[in-house]
Amino acid sequence: MGDPRHQYITPPDVYFNRRTFIRAGLVAATTAGTALAYRRLNGVDLQAVDGAPIPGIVKPTGPGYIAHGEQLTPLESIANYNNFYEFTTNKDGVAAAAAGFNTDGWTVEVGGLCAKPRTFDMDMLVRLSSPEERIYRMRCVEGWSMVIPWVGYSLSKLLAAVEPTSAARYVAFETLLDPSRMPNQSNDSVLDWPYLEGLRIDEAMHPLTILATGIYGQKMPPQDGAPIRLVVPWKYGFKGIKSIVKITLVDKEPPTTWNRSAPDEYGFYANVNPNHDHPRWSQATERRIGESDRRPTLMFNGYADQVASLYAGMDLDAQF
Ligand code: MTE
Repeated sequence: MGDPRHQYITPPDVYFNRRTFIRAGLVAATTAGTALAYRRLNGVDLQAVDGAPIPGIVKPTGPGYIAHGEQLTPLESIANYNNFYEFTTNKDGVAAAAAGFNTDGWTVEVGGLCAKPRTFDMDMLVRLSSPEERIYRMRCVEGWSMVIPWVGYSLSKLLAAVEPTSAARYVAFETLLDPSRMPNQSNDSVLDWPYLEGLRIDEAMHPLTILATGIYGQKMPPQDGAPIRLVVPWKYGFKGIKSIVKITLVDKEPPTTWNRSAPDEYGFYANVNPNHDHPRWSQATERRIGESDRRPTLMFNGYADQVASLYAGMDLDAQF
């Protein structure tokens, strides 16, 4: 606890201070389209989101692709309540700190144990597969959750393009390292940079695992991980690494940022599990942004039918 780097992840009630709580409630009451009133009423300088629309979005209905019966979290909330430590550890401040983040000329290097390693620019990535809307629940380990309409496509499509060899058992992901564009990276006491994440290859190939380039039909706002991020809906939000520049197929479990920072608190798998409490708080319930009452957290965040078989025989409480 003495290590300042363990501060992600202060108890959720600290984050859900009165202002945030009231604001979240107002968003629910006023719904989208009243951003101005929302801004004025709360006295918080919310960042407007006006990303370029993404053309040609398709809406496939594969299992788990759409969180049926769930109310979408308003765009204003998704884009103004963020974790992106490269900019700031203040959730309310990420949008302002990341405004103007320059992603021109962005590339993603995909390599390691594959037959056709390649560096993709954003045009190549966007052309690789039709943009799909995926409406997923997102559960943060801090105890809050959202329902987000992402735009993206299955990571498996990109991996197939580089032809993984049979030796590839895991996939490692890396965020941009550039303190001139991500100012909090100048501060070594926050986290070890760059932010790293990883998946087992079967998790990476699962159709629910996506690379997202947008939300609400528009290009990804900087604060949510522009220009391209990972989304794995049955895992805690910290697995969803933002602003990816490198994807590497490897044969061993790769190091991940939060696991390295506090291994007893953040496992490699990080599957949403209401029965495995974080050392400092229960994971049994969550607060959906915009709602006042807590609700039960679902095993695998409600995606058990789709993904539980990936973990057959594994002790999910021991290997968290
Ligand atoms: N990716 C990077 N590069 N840096 C981060 O600090 N935070 C993670 C994840 N991806 C983070 C990151 C955490 S803790 C969460 S909960 C989600 O992003 C939050 O995504 P959101 O801000 O779009 O809701």
